[in-house]
Amino acid sequence: MSFDRLAPHYRWLERVTAGGVLQRARIAHLASLDTAENILLVGEGPGRFLTALRARRPDVPITVLDASARMLDMARDTAVGPTTFQQLDLTEESLPPGSWDAVVSHCFLDCFASAKLERVSANLAQATTPKADWLITDFAMPAAGWQRARARFAHALMYRTFRIAANLEARRWTDPSYLLSAQGFELHRRTPFNHGLIRADHWRRA
Ligand SMILES: C[S@@+](CC[C@H](N)C(=O)[O-])C[C@H]1O[C@@H](n2cnc3c(N)ncnc32)[C@H](O)[C@@H]1O
Repeated sequence: MSFDRLAPHYRWLERVTAGGVLQRARIAHLASLDTAENILLVGEGPGRFLTALRARRPDVPITVLDASARMLDMARDTAVGPTTFQQLDLTEESLPPGSWDAVVSHCFLDCFASAKLERVSANLAQATTPKADWLITDFAMPAAGWQRARARFAHALMYRTFRIAANLEARRWTDPSYLLSAQGFELHRRTPFNHGLIRADHWRRA
C-alpha cells in the first residue's frame, strides 16, 4: 500500500467527494486533547487535522507518523510549533512503549484488513500511557435501513477506488472497536456523520 501517488490529489478529492464533512468529523472531539502533554498523529496524510490541532494547542509536542513520504512532505508544509515527522510503516516497526498520552488515527484504521488491523492497533495501544485518549474518524456501517444499503454501496466504491489508487489491501471495512476494547480502551463518545457513513470516536483508557 502506498499513498504517494494519491498525495498531491488527496485534498481536492476530499473536497469534491466529501465536502467539509470529514474535517468536521476529524475535529468533533478535538477538545478532548486539551490536556494531553504529547500527541501522536498516525497516518495523518496531508495535515488537515494537524493544522486544526496546532491552532488549538500551539505549544504541545506533536509526533506525525506516516508511511508516505509525499504525505509527510505535505503535512510538514503546514506545520508550526514543536512537531516531529517520521516516515514509518506501522505494520512493520514497533513504536516505543508508553510514549504518548493521546493518539489520533483519522481515516487510517479503515485501511487495514483484520490481521494487520490487529497488529497496528496493538502497536499503537502499547505506545500510549495508561490513561491515554484515542481519537478515531473512520468510515462506518449503520446497523440497518436505507442508511446501511447506502453505506454498503459507498464502501464498495471507496475500497475499489483506493485499491486502484493506493494498492489498498483491505477489501472491506473491519470495525476496530473490539480491538480497542481488548487493549483496555472504552468508548467515551461516538458522533455519527453523513447518516452513519462516517463516525468520530473518542476512546480512552480508564
Ligand atoms: C486514507 S489516508 C488518511 C489521511 C488523513 N489522516 C485523513 O484523515 O484523511 C491514510 C494515511 O495512512 C497512511 N498509511 C497507510 N498505511 C500506513 C502504514 N502501514 N503505516 C503508516 N502510515 C500508513 C497513508 O500514507 C495515508 O497518509
